[in-house]
Amino acid sequence: MSEQVAIITGAAKGLGRAFAEGLGNAGFAIVACDIDSGIDELEGLTLRADVSKPDDVRRIVDAAMHEHGRIDILVNNAGIARATRAGDDWESGLRDFDEVVGTNFFSTFLFGRAVAPIMIEQRSGHIVNVSTDHVYPIPGERVWGHGGMDLYNASKWALNGLTLDWAATLGSRGIRVNGICLGATDTPMLREFAGRVDESVIATWMLPEQICDLVLELIAEGPEGRTGHNLGCWVGRPVRLDDSIEAGHRR
Ligand SMILES: NC(=O)c1ccc[n+]([C@@H]2O[C@H](COP(=O)([O-])OP(=O)(O)OC[C@H]3O[C@@H](n4cnc5c(N)ncnc54)[C@H](O)[C@@H]3O)[C@@H](O)[C@H]2O)c1
Repeated sequence: MSEQVAIITGAAKGLGRAFAEGLGNAGFAIVACDIDSGIDELEGLTLRADVSKPDDVRRIVDAAMHEHGRIDILVNNAGIARATRAGDDWESGLRDFDEVVGTNFFSTFLFGRAVAPIMIEQRSGHIVNVSTDHVYPIPGERVWGHGGMDLYNASKWALNGLTLDWAATLGSRGIRVNGICLGATDTPMLREFAGRVDESVIATWMLPEQICDLVLELIAEGPEGRTGHNLGCWVGRPVRLDDSIEAGHRR
């Protein structure tokens, strides 16, 4: 088979960058996009693009096909976190809705619609949607402390609809779809969102490279591997595939 091709969204920094570098080192041909110019520093086919814009998503997927003729992995990683609340004023609420839901959820829908027909034609592929432990907390723990992010949380819950439906409908076509539900991971997003945090707290956070290793493990399961799973990655717990299984089913 020719080289396997992976699309990574939001790859200029943070988790996306770790995914692009880690999958690149593992031998995948990388197609990476970001709204930020830092994307130009990566190896592979890199595009500046806004993942919430249908024309940009088409441009990325068309470019991947033009360059490589196939798409094996899609990591829907690009996302933004924002403090939003039910009591916010109307105008900022509408603006936040467009930006947060557009970046975190609409983008994943768009990439799915653009890539699924290609994977169906190939009869193979794997889609990984990047979500949060706000959706899937450590079993038995209460979800304290995640208020004040209503749009972020709703957008990540919405990803479940895509992950589970796509897993169910694409499984018979040889395509796997999984979500990873991350706790605190040391990236520019979290450092900015958390504000002034003691270095001793930051030292407890997971590292993007650990999450990338988990994704590589997930990919390595191959066509018979799990699908329709939300994998929990939690601070203070081992970041390993077998410690992450909780929801979904194995074919
Ligand atoms: N860091 C954490 O603790 C954590 C926890 C749970 C989930 N996540 C999720 O992981 C993903 C990556 O987060 P991160 O922490 O690496 O964030 P980050 O801000 O460090 O990196 C995100 C990247 O996405 C890009 N991006 C944002 N909007 C975009 C758009 N419209 N089009 C294209 N690119 C865009 C940014 O420019 C940036 O390079 C997000 O979906 C986030 O919700 C992160």
